[in-house]
Amino acid sequence: MKLMTDGSEVKLPAKIPEHVAIIMDGNGRWARSRGLPRMAGHRAGVDNLRRIIEAAVEYGIKYLTIYAFSTENWKRPPAEVKGLINILEDVIDRELKSLNENGVQLRHIGRLDQLKPELQDKVKQAIKMTEKNDRLILNVAWNYGGRDEIVCAIKQMVSDGIQPEEITESLVGRYLFTSDSPDPDLIIRTSGEMRVSNFLIWQGAYSEWYATTTYWPDFDPEELLGALHVYAQRERRYGRISGNVSSR
Ligand code: IPE
Ligand code: IPE
Ligand code: MG
Repeated sequence: MKLMTDGSEVKLPAKIPEHVAIIMDGNGRWARSRGLPRMAGHRAGVDNLRRIIEAAVEYGIKYLTIYAFSTENWKRPPAEVKGLINILEDVIDRELKSLNENGVQLRHIGRLDQLKPELQDKVKQAIKMTEKNDRLILNVAWNYGGRDEIVCAIKQMVSDGIQPEEITESLVGRYLFTSDSPDPDLIIRTSGEMRVSNFLIWQGAYSEWYATTTYWPDFDPEELLGALHVYAQRERRYGRISGNVSSR
């Protein structure tokens, strides 16, 4: 049993994943099911993110990667894209102080170059401000796409003059946006979709998956804990046979 800061007690599994990644999906359907505009769903999604970050810290997760905006999400109606950019800015303005006080280190994966320069600076300052924190590393995937990430890595390897015989899986990993994080142990997707949607396609090669029909705004710390218990039951074989799988 572990005592949470709100006074409740939870039973944590013995094996907690070091790195959890979440495809936070279903905000639009959550809103529609309540007769609300899609943006109300995105705002409810942010409220939920706050409580999931707090829970992740309490459960002892070290890395949390969240998919907030994909390279494909630019195809949405301009008003929704604008709304999602505004949310990014609002979250930094309103949440940075408490994230920092809670020991959360903010990182960004993806590309900032399509944002206005002032917002790019704001993101970079937030990253700088929290760089010494180490309770939880929060990777925010914003304008992130796994294929785009691999293309960027290849371009950089070519421009660095890397020779074919030098290219290994570990070198490729070091050229990705996630070079400072271990591969995700557990990837969660909410809202019932069963696809990867261009998320961590290299890093997720051996991640365990947990899919739930719950829409993201309703995915609460209790369900996260449930996902951790499901994960703890999994046997990660990495191609080996059962019973011979102690490590990668
Ligand atoms: C996920 O919710 C948030 C983003 C992709 C930014 P959606 O907006 O995809 O919600 P649905 O899938 O339409 O319900
Ligand atoms: C994936 O959700 C991207 C994010 C959660 C940010 P989408 O809703 O964009 O994925 P698709 O389009 O249904 O595959
Ligand atoms: Mg969706």
